[in-house]
Amino acid sequence: MWAVVAADPGGPEVLSLAEVDDAVAGPDEVLLRVAAAGINRADLLQRQGHYPPPPGASPLMGLECSGTVEALGAEVSGWSVGDEVCALLSGGGYAELVAVPAGQLLPIPAGVDLVTAAALPEAAATVWSNLFMVARLQEGETLLVHGGAGGIGSFAIQLASRLGVRVLATAGSPDKLGLCRELGADTAISYRDQDFVEEVERATEGRGVDVVLDNMGAAYLQRNIAALARNGRVVVIGMQGGRKTELDLGGLFAKNGTLSAILLRPRPVAEKAAICAEVVERVWPLVADGRIVPRVHATYPFAEAAAAHADMESGTHTGKILLTAP
Ligand SMILES: NC(=O)c1ccc[n+]([C@@H]2O[C@H](COP(=O)([O-])OP(=O)(O)OC[C@H]3O[C@@H](n4cnc5c(N)ncnc54)[C@H](OP(=O)(O)O)[C@@H]3O)[C@@H](O)[C@H]2O)c1
Repeated sequence: MWAVVAADPGGPEVLSLAEVDDAVAGPDEVLLRVAAAGINRADLLQRQGHYPPPPGASPLMGLECSGTVEALGAEVSGWSVGDEVCALLSGGGYAELVAVPAGQLLPIPAGVDLVTAAALPEAAATVWSNLFMVARLQEGETLLVHGGAGGIGSFAIQLASRLGVRVLATAGSPDKLGLCRELGADTAISYRDQDFVEEVERATEGRGVDVVLDNMGAAYLQRNIAALARNGRVVVIGMQGGRKTELDLGGLFAKNGTLSAILLRPRPVAEKAAICAEVVERVWPLVADGRIVPRVHATYPFAEAAAAHADMESGTHTGKILLTAP
């Protein structure tokens, strides 16, 4: 099969199309013919040699895809050859064929086309699991989303606001701040020109937010805690601002706060299956009726994966960038 491979760790230019051994589905897996794969920041790190795939995962990049069921493992039921689906992967999406544990297959929500469906699994699973399963975000609470115009952030704003949560979001340019408001944020904060802790205080009349969804890691940890309300939860999902920092725990105690840091990719298959089941039940209806709209910034063919990675690294995109299979 054809796949996008990285000849050596490095910049986007190391990516090329190559013939590799066909993916093979195990007894509890489904073989998909990939239509499109979503690009995630983890793929950029993997390409640079900083994020090796977890044990047992495909060595190829690609944490989500859409496609058509090509074959079923002997123990799989509930799906048929020819079904159009999308899937949460531990790797391997940048290829013509990918083997997926059956529990990580999702139907395509009504009204979403096959290629666009590749933009959904990673954002939906990351946002649902962190905000609603881990942080127990509730209707009527307040959420701060960092990077509200990105792939994860644009989904988080839509999902939380549609479920009755008041959303504040940060972004880096006037256009992106406008997009955050359009998606459902009632307060948009420039991370370049404003102090988000002060802006949160102002917008919540000193109360703070109940939950922070954070992509910045070390750089924002102390300030995220400062922005919390009592009993608040900080959910760290990324380390774009570094991994090491000094933390004054007094700040967390003062808020009676909770801090979590969870990666979706290495979670066991059973946990991912449980997340996918909740996503189908709780999130897909909002996509199907148009209240959540997947945002696709650009679509590149597999052969132009280098340009697609460079596009994401430039930081000018909003929403998701996709690759389409040959
Ligand atoms: N834990 C997990 O399982 C998991 C799963 C998926 C993704 N993630 C993480 O989630 C994060 C977002 O991923 P993505 O796919 O949405 O990537 P993306 O589309 O490239 O988004 C990156 C975001 O970072 C924002 N950003 C950059 N500098 C910032 C700053 N100083 N303050 C606040 N925001 C800043 C950008 O905002 P502007 O565009 O406005 O500049 C952009 O919205 C990444 O860190 C990724 O690794 C984690």
